[in-house]
Amino acid sequence: MTAKDICIKLNIDENLAQQSLRWTDSNKEFCDKTLYLLLKGKCGFARKLDGKQKLALVLNALPYVYAKYQEKGIDEKIFFDTFSDIKIWCDNGFEQYGAQGLENLSWIAKHLSMKIFRIGRLQYEFSRFLILPHAKLKDVIKCPYRLGEKCITLHIPQGEKLDTQKCLASIKDANAFFEKYYPDYKYRCYTVITWLVNPNLENVLGEDSNIVKFGKLFHILGYVPDSDMNERRVFGYKKDRANYAPKNALQTYTLARIQKNLPLYSYNGYRAK
Ligand SMILES: CC(C)(COP(=O)(O)OP(=O)(O)OC[C@H]1O[C@@H](n2cnc3c(N)ncnc32)[C@H](O)[C@@H]1OP(=O)(O)O)[C@@H](O)C(=O)NCCC(=O)NCCS
Repeated sequence: MTAKDICIKLNIDENLAQQSLRWTDSNKEFCDKTLYLLLKGKCGFARKLDGKQKLALVLNALPYVYAKYQEKGIDEKIFFDTFSDIKIWCDNGFEQYGAQGLENLSWIAKHLSMKIFRIGRLQYEFSRFLILPHAKLKDVIKCPYRLGEKCITLHIPQGEKLDTQKCLASIKDANAFFEKYYPDYKYRCYTVITWLVNPNLENVLGEDSNIVKFGKLFHILGYVPDSDMNERRVFGYKKDRANYAPKNALQTYTLARIQKNLPLYSYNGYRAK
């Protein structure tokens, strides 16, 4: 599978892909020399590159990652679902900076190093059980997990509704996935760090909301102020406060807190596998 074939399957803008691939061709030596770093999830060397050049590095690496998936026998669907995140982050970068390409290379480097997989609706990352630094804590005494023990952190990609049945199916499939492909990775729970499990949202969105039902899948361990993240996720990457015009209860709630200078939080949650 060539980088070009993969771009087509990932629905990456044709022009952008072509420009990036041309950069790969004319900087082949650099791309190949740094490939092993990227495949280990390291990308500090690319700090000064622009978004198109960062995307070029990713495109250069994708056929190698594809081959690794094949070697491990991981379904092609998981590969393409996992890397569908490239388009999401190119779009976010465009919204935020007005420039084409992939600014958020450090995030996609995790996918390249096979530390993150998308399985159905959700993404899964090998990680360690932690409490957010300076978190206000809740019910720590009831938490059955040890700090630093192996776990899987779950992420919620944008782009489709957060249907609870799809999330539960995804978690079930993730259990089977890690058992089959990473049997030596013994873990007992999934964790999340996100604004989406805010227990106060039940009063805002009602018990039938997808976000609220998702929140109930987790025990909350702690929370930290994370207003920027909340604002970005609810109003987009432009941060154009003067033109915010709330279209739903979530936006109204978020804007009201911003205007009153009240913090919005990210929450640290967990659930048994
Ligand atoms: C996760 C996500 C898909 C949930 O959306 P959903 O399935 O529509 O959630 P709900 O059904 O609970 O939504 C309730 C209401 O809030 C709105 N809403 C949900 N998420 C919203 C968001 N991020 N921004 C603005 N409005 C949002 C919905 O449109 C809905 O409005 P309505 O009542 O007028 O129809 C959505 O928030 C999203 O794409 N977020 C970006 C990804 C993200 O934040 N990941 C976590 C990073 S830490």
